[in-house]
Amino acid sequence: MNPADTSDLWWRTAVFYCLDVETFQDSDGDGHGDFAGLTRRIDDLDALGVTCIWLMPFQPTPERDDGYDISDFYSVDRRFGDLGRVVEAIRVAHDRGIRVVIDLVVNHTSDRHPWFVSARRSRTSRFRDYYVWRDRPPRKKEQLVFPGEETSMWEYDERTEQYFRHSFYRHQPDLNFANPEVRSEVARIIGFWLKLGVDGFRVDAVPFLVTREGIADEQDPHSFLREVRRFVNRREASAMLLGEVGLAHQEQLDYFGDEGTELDLQFDFLTTAKLFLALSRQQATPLAEVLASRPTVDARHGWAIFLRHHDELNLGLLDDAEKEEVFARFAPDEDQRIYGRGIIRRLAPMLESDPRRLRLAYSLLFSLPGAPMIFYGEEIGMGELSTDLGRGAVRGPMQWDAGPLGGFTTSTPSKLRRPVAGGAYAPAHVNVHDQRRDPESLWSFIATLASRYRSTPEIAWGDLHVQDPGDPRVLAHQTTYGDVTFIAVHNLSAEPVTARLEPLAEGRTVTVLLESSGSAPQGEHTEQLLDGYGFRWFRVSPDAWSAA
Ligand code: GLC
Repeated sequence: MNPADTSDLWWRTAVFYCLDVETFQDSDGDGHGDFAGLTRRIDDLDALGVTCIWLMPFQPTPERDDGYDISDFYSVDRRFGDLGRVVEAIRVAHDRGIRVVIDLVVNHTSDRHPWFVSARRSRTSRFRDYYVWRDRPPRKKEQLVFPGEETSMWEYDERTEQYFRHSFYRHQPDLNFANPEVRSEVARIIGFWLKLGVDGFRVDAVPFLVTREGIADEQDPHSFLREVRRFVNRREASAMLLGEVGLAHQEQLDYFGDEGTELDLQFDFLTTAKLFLALSRQQATPLAEVLASRPTVDARHGWAIFLRHHDELNLGLLDDAEKEEVFARFAPDEDQRIYGRGIIRRLAPMLESDPRRLRLAYSLLFSLPGAPMIFYGEEIGMGELSTDLGRGAVRGPMQWDAGPLGGFTTSTPSKLRRPVAGGAYAPAHVNVHDQRRDPESLWSFIATLASRYRSTPEIAWGDLHVQDPGDPRVLAHQTTYGDVTFIAVHNLSAEPVTARLEPLAEGRTVTVLLESSGSAPQGEHTEQLLDGYGFRWFRVSPDAWSAA
């Protein structure tokens, strides 16, 4: 594969790393992470093999949805620094060849945003029409995003005697995309951050931008997204839009648009949910089926694969029986679950920190066709905090060293927004410093995976074929790009297995790219012996490519 052909579409093979500046690294001892701290840590991310940082919202916020409630789109929350510090962080990242994308949260604002403060003051406010108002909420019942915390998507505003719409919390009024002025505001926000150097956006809550009443063109609900794409192209053609579209694959297709007219990349929520079903059953079948049925998308577009992210592990795309299976296995306590659909735990505790299972899961993450995304702290196997914190349970301070506050801050525990993990997951046991120096650590394994992934571009670019290895415990998948094929076999069960692979075509050479430690020596390619939770990656090519 000629890298020059593919580098324009850099997101197809990116290694994404999501972090919250607030909880990543405090540089001045006030207990909050900040941009100066992040800047100091960029070399650590480079060493891990990250090629694109995704920053969760860092703009001014009353923090009632962990920053997803923005009160000023054009600046930085004072706790985290200022715009100068943001530019420095982006510059240092770029210097290391790392791109930076930020969250674009424009479905709603905080109710403290000056637009809404004005809009709710009077029906004649010039910002009134920036939001969606009705005399009466529509009769049609809509599915709530936060069941148990909200009972409706409409909130009555006493002063002006109308209801405003909020897809999420009642303190997050929805913006009104039917209003061309709102669309211009969104364009300016995008233009501003592109000018400061960001390389694209993780677009928050995309289906809500197109599937609600009050959008500009009821006949063509995607027109807003296309407008955003066109604007981004005009300003910065290489910038990427990575969308949060938590729907089934077929429905997601609409959000790619035709040939680069909407999103470039979308998170693959369904595959994540099926992967956890497969892990809980110790059977590969759910994963094999979902991959085989995943629609192919054209070259510009792709999928972002993840195990855990900053929200709950969403099982809403599974059927009820499947969801209960995953709950029973990975979230046995009711308080580990949220909104009836998700799990608020990190991966390591869910897999009992078993190195074999963790490695299997990460080997899957990096070998499934798409761009892998790691949520901060997952690379060292951090644990979740108390589930009383809701989604905040997985958003604790990053653990850099063995000190009591994990090197996150020199402050005192009482100043921290969220506590540092204790017990088996305390920094003394789980931290970057120690793991970087240990070739057997999870951090080192993930660095190896990132390096193999980056030197194996056919994983993301190739055409997918799921083989039948004759054993439901094994996933055998391959991706072919030109005359090179990548093959991976994964045993999801604890028992050793023998998987049968399809015979190789005449004149092909096989190179092993990666395998689980202690793997049995290989004989015939068609007979793959794998230990419990074992895996192996190959490249098949006409002439042996040297494996990096
Ligand atoms: C997205 C974010 C989530 C947030 C919501 C509202 O789903 O991932 O954390 O609560 O949007 O902005």
